[in-house]
Amino acid sequence: MGKKILVTGGTGYIGSHTVVELQQAGYEVLIIDDLSNSNIEVLDGIENITGIRPDFVQLDLNDKEGLYKVLTENRNIQGIIHFAASKAVGESVQKPLQYYRNNILTLLNLLDMMPEFGIRCFVFSSSCTVYGQPDILPVTENAPIKPAMSPYGNTKQINEEIIHDAIHANLPFKSIILRYFNPIGAHPSAEIGELPNGVPQNLVPFITQTAMGIRKELSVFGDDYNTPDGTCIRDFINVVDLAKAHVIAIDRMLENKSDDKLEVFNLGTGTGVSVLELIHAFEQGTGVKVPYRIVERREGDIEKVWADPTYANNVLGWKAKETLKDTLVSAWNWQKKLK
Ligand code: UD1
Repeated sequence: MGKKILVTGGTGYIGSHTVVELQQAGYEVLIIDDLSNSNIEVLDGIENITGIRPDFVQLDLNDKEGLYKVLTENRNIQGIIHFAASKAVGESVQKPLQYYRNNILTLLNLLDMMPEFGIRCFVFSSSCTVYGQPDILPVTENAPIKPAMSPYGNTKQINEEIIHDAIHANLPFKSIILRYFNPIGAHPSAEIGELPNGVPQNLVPFITQTAMGIRKELSVFGDDYNTPDGTCIRDFINVVDLAKAHVIAIDRMLENKSDDKLEVFNLGTGTGVSVLELIHAFEQGTGVKVPYRIVERREGDIEKVWADPTYANNVLGWKAKETLKDTLVSAWNWQKKLK
């Protein structure tokens, strides 16, 4: 029997791409997802790529008894990659308690149970949101954590602290925290990709839906920032590149490649791209026009942030490989499949 990894939120956007990479690296995968922001048909997409249907249990991780039962029935789990979380920044401001319950209590349930089931590795899905607006760019892992701008951002910070304190207290597991910059794109097969719920909040799904004619025009939130073209700057990282880093993180812990019980890595390309540059790169890559209009700034947006990925490059031996153009074309191919 192969090594088995529990992927929470495994039918979600980054989760599903990670399941594919894990399977292709020879891991068995069990997904737990409550399907609150994903679709069961994602399993078909995964199976179409890898030829293997991952085990799946529909469960809310707040259901402690249910989780205990699943772990009892799957004694061979060696590591957990924890994606399951609510992630809409605006919604978190409206429904803070829901965000704290979904994103924090679930982490406690998982960490609580790991020792009993002998699970020794935990990968946590964090975000560059913990840096707020960094004082120095590109941002390294040592940059100070800034006060969170939303309950969503706060849950990422609190989760990181909980993991840190658990490791400090010598609980019997290791952890790798991965801070993602802006994941975009889809699997090159167009079998899986991002499935936004309702009107997309994130830039790339809004671009692809506008290019498809589903949305009339894209609103560009502000062109009066202190950046070369006045629009915000982000580090857009290909989702498959990002997924591969999770496999490396799991391998690293299972194979005891590091003595550190807790490690933190930035996952980005190292290159900042503005909102307008991204729109133009999409248009050039696909040949499809994206009607857009400059509107007011969006509250809470960071002006500019991009990663210094040197630590992940050197220590994990991981590097973002896909070009921005190919990544945007993959997002477009996925949108065309969805229509
Ligand atoms: C946001 C969160 C981040 C979170 C991520 C999850 C903040 C500060 N950051 O990232 O913590 O992990 O969502 O989904 O809230 N834009 C437009 N028009 C649009 C949509 C976006 O101009 O219709 C602009 C935004 O103003 C921003 C950039 O595109 O400058 C990227 O926006 P988005 O894709 O929402 O990601 P973040 O805000 O960077």
